[in-house]
Amino acid sequence: MSKQFAVIGHPIEQSRSPELHHAFAQKMGIDLNYAKRLAPLDGFDASMQDFFAQGGLGMNVTVPFKEQAFNACTVLTERAKIAKAVNTLWMQNGQLHGDNTDGQGLVEAILALGWNLAQSRILIIGAGGATRGVIYPLVQAGAQKIVIANRTLARAEQLVADLKDAVPNTELSAVELHDLDGDFDLVINATSASLSGDALVLPETLQFKYAYEMAYGKASSFLDQAKARGVPTSEGFGMLVGQAIESFRIWHGVKPNLKDFL
Ligand code: ATR
Repeated sequence: MSKQFAVIGHPIEQSRSPELHHAFAQKMGIDLNYAKRLAPLDGFDASMQDFFAQGGLGMNVTVPFKEQAFNACTVLTERAKIAKAVNTLWMQNGQLHGDNTDGQGLVEAILALGWNLAQSRILIIGAGGATRGVIYPLVQAGAQKIVIANRTLARAEQLVADLKDAVPNTELSAVELHDLDGDFDLVINATSASLSGDALVLPETLQFKYAYEMAYGKASSFLDQAKARGVPTSEGFGMLVGQAIESFRIWHGVKPNLKDFL
């Protein structure tokens, strides 16, 4: 029987992970089966444990179970501890291991675009789980200054307070979305505004060289404004492929080339 992998979530039908992992496996000459697993909203732990009890080797975790997956692990990577969320699970020596590959996926997608992160000044809009998950990998990739802008200032301030010890050499600060201003290399939309069809208004005075939208396949007023300024833009498909590649690397020890799958 092929090696068994799965992505667990609720809902799960929309997940692109099986097609990505099958494409990587074909390219790298690995035989595996990667399934979609729908867990009931109150049934993550039981479904996940059943998968591993049946001999499953690795599991990706998507909305809304990433925090529950974090809590279920006995061994966590540094970046998963900082993210407080896990999207990649595997068993090793009878212990459930967890990592979070979302931030590294974003970093690799950005680097594949040829955008520079060394010594960069980054503005991240949004202060939810998506933002928390990418700060540490962005810092490791060389970000010098990160400003978190959020509609609810207190949430951005809380995130800065939580993360500042983990990134002592990076300038980390919070600002209210309305007071957004300054000069950045990269601006990232990590809000769920595009997912819910809401507009995000960037002030004219805000300067940036590149714009990345974490959502993909959705109308994005954020990207429209960046494009109107003639700034290079990208949306989140590269990040999705990047996180899948990093999970694949953890499980199989070989790393597909991101650009082959965009
Ligand atoms: P995720 O885990 O995907 O980050 P989340 O924790 O629900 O999701 O966070 C959503 C983020 O999008 C928050 O920063 C939210 O701002 P608030 O903290 O003020 O709620 C932001 N967001 C959602 N809709 C928005 C909108 N229409 N305008 C601005 N920010 C929005």
